Amino acid sequence: MEHFDIVLAIARIALSGDSERATHQVKRLREAVSKAKPDQAEKLARLLNRDDRRHSVAPMSLEQMRVSGSSPPVIPGEKLGRNTPLPNDRETATPLVRVVFPEDNVGAEPVLSPVLADALDGLIGEWAHTEELAALGVQPNMRCLLYGKPGVGKTMLARYIGAKLGLPIVEARLDGLVSSFLGTTARNIGALFDFADRYRCVLFLDEFDAIAKARDDAQEVGEIKRVVNALLQCLDARGRRGFTLAATNHEHLLDPAVWRRFDGRIEIPLPDADARKNLLARFLPPLTPGEAEMKMLVWMTEGMSGADIETLISGGKRFLVMKEASGASGSRRRGLLGGLRRQATLSGQLFSVEQRALLLGSNEELAAALVDNGGLTQREAGLLVGVSQSTVSRRRRDTANPLEA
Ligand SMILES: Nc1ncnc2c1ncn2[C@@H]1O[C@H](COP(=O)(O)OP(=O)(O)OP(=O)(O)O)[C@@H](O)[C@H]1O
Ligand SMILES: [Mg+2]
Repeated sequence: MEHFDIVLAIARIALSGDSERATHQVKRLREAVSKAKPDQAEKLARLLNRDDRRHSVAPMSLEQMRVSGSSPPVIPGEKLGRNTPLPNDRETATPLVRVVFPEDNVGAEPVLSPVLADALDGLIGEWAHTEELAALGVQPNMRCLLYGKPGVGKTMLARYIGAKLGLPIVEARLDGLVSSFLGTTARNIGALFDFADRYRCVLFLDEFDAIAKARDDAQEVGEIKRVVNALLQCLDARGRRGFTLAATNHEHLLDPAVWRRFDGRIEIPLPDADARKNLLARFLPPLTPGEAEMKMLVWMTEGMSGADIETLISGGKRFLVMKEASGASGSRRRGLLGGLRRQATLSGQLFSVEQRALLLGSNEELAAALVDNGGLTQREAGLLVGVSQSTVSRRRRDTANPLEA
């Protein structure tokens, strides 16, 4: 029989359960027969295509890694490498996932409140000790939903969890899957889960509300029902095969059945004053603001997300550079306030209405507010804004007793 050596190799590898090498050999066979027997080559191509999307070959003959210290947790699956072929949308050939490897993600630890950081440490600890927990008859939470306002660090946190576990993150943006490929969405979701189930990884479903949002479109009701059902089935089938993280800005839009599938639901709140201070300390260097400026920044950033604070500080830095390049005089301290004022004009949406009005209003009023609401002393506020202490004091009196002003 022609090409018998390849068939023999496939048989040997298939029996040993190494599906990656088996795929390689089937591809060789397809090449070998493509000229003489195009119809057979076509059949093999279809088989390969299906295999890409199929559940991993069962039973998995895959080595299971032991947990010790920081080594990856014990979950079944093949090793996901940089050369592993990614699943594609069949019509457009667009990849359905993006893989972030732990080594690509070092150092990006999100700033979180201590309570939240503790809770997450607990979760990561559980995931890293799955086997020990199983020995005691308990299972860790395998599916976890991160929710919160835009820009609070959900995506960053999911990648960080992957890096902490030493596992690659298989990221799928469901908004892309749903909006671009309506009609084939359910199939793509199947392919996505097949891929994640096959490899040792954390599956991360970002922008998870996309499916729920699409339900509002009356014309697409039938399609979306199919998609939600496909998603529920996939989540159930994935079960304990691997970790699943999802993130959303619109948790209230999620289908209740989908919401229930997650045993962990973690709200990532907007940063409180301490967290904002830590975020500022991360983004400000090499600028080294004094204590009074720090207090001003912490107060001014109330209600902002981590991403907003990053945008604000980048804008402030650009302002300082341009100011110094133009040879303008004045201390960096004033420059920082100038930067904030510029941002209040250019990126007003970052601030609350009141803060924006204060930044764009008079120096006296701003200085008084920095004392009354921002926790600065009169001296600090006066120096920062460039007005005398007596002016600050008068303005505060006038604000407190407007009738006497
Ligand atoms: N808690 C945080 N700690 C450190 N950096 C943060 C934090 N939150 C946001 N950032 C900064 O903002 C960027 C954007 O955050 P990220 O994309 O993770 O937010 P998100 O919650 O996923 O937003 P969205 O809901 O819009 O997808 C991060 O790359 C990081 O630079
Ligand atoms: Mg995100």
